[in-house]
Amino acid sequence: MVRKSLLVMSLALVFILGGASNAFAREYADIYMDSTRDSMEKADVKAVLFPHWFHRIRFKCKVCHEDIFKMKRGSNNISMRRIMEGEACGVCHNGQIAWEALYCERCHSTEFEPRQ
Ligand code: HEC
Ligand code: HEC
Ligand code: HEC
Repeated sequence: MVRKSLLVMSLALVFILGGASNAFAREYADIYMDSTRDSMEKADVKAVLFPHWFHRIRFKCKVCHEDIFKMKRGSNNISMRRIMEGEACGVCHNGQIAWEALYCERCHSTEFEPRQ
């Protein structure tokens, strides 16, 4: 009995913490990216939603961290120029390991959140 209510409590806690970290409901561990918001709006593309989990089940952490990306949200100075030159997402999204970065809306797929 005690055990069961502990389980229920910890599940509720996970739910609350998970909900609090994200204003919008998304798949677990997706990363919303908008540090270049002004340029993205100018170019009329949406914000980027990086499906972290989707990538994590396909690649070991060390494929990306820290050679390609620092493990801190918003700390990687990603630009389309770098991607097209084969850096950041472009290490794989180059038409060889994964589809190339010409399909804008596959990455720029989510509405901007309200400005902080
Ligand atoms: C395909 C590349 C890739 C793989 C594989 C990957 N990550 Fe990440 N990870 C990223 C990117 C991109 C970001 C966001 C960086 C940014 O916003 O500049 C990130 C961010 C993070 C963050 C910071 C989150 C935050 O809120 O600041 C952590 C922690 C992290 N990854 C852990 C992991 C772990 C643990 C694994 C393996 C289980 C892993 N990552 C595998 C690409 C990857
Ligand atoms: C280590 C290689 C690697 C890196 C780095 C990488 N990706 Fe991917 N990504 C892949 C592969 C492989 C796929 C699956 C391609 C396929 O299905 O043809 C994929 C698929 C995707 C998808 C589609 C997911 C789905 O549900 O079908 C999105 C969106 C995406 N990547 C965004 C990004 C973004 C944004 C970055 C940079 C922040 C990035 N990727 C960096 C390898 C990578
Ligand atoms: C593989 C994923 C991916 C694809 C495909 C992609 N982008 Fe991006 N783009 C990103 C990421 C990641 C950022 C940086 C997001 C951030 O941190 O703000 C970005 C940033 C941008 C920016 C702002 C920064 C800069 O470089 O000026 C513009 C504008 C942009 N993208 C336009 C496009 C257009 C247009 C296309 C299609 C031709 C495209 N993107 C395709 C991932 C992608």
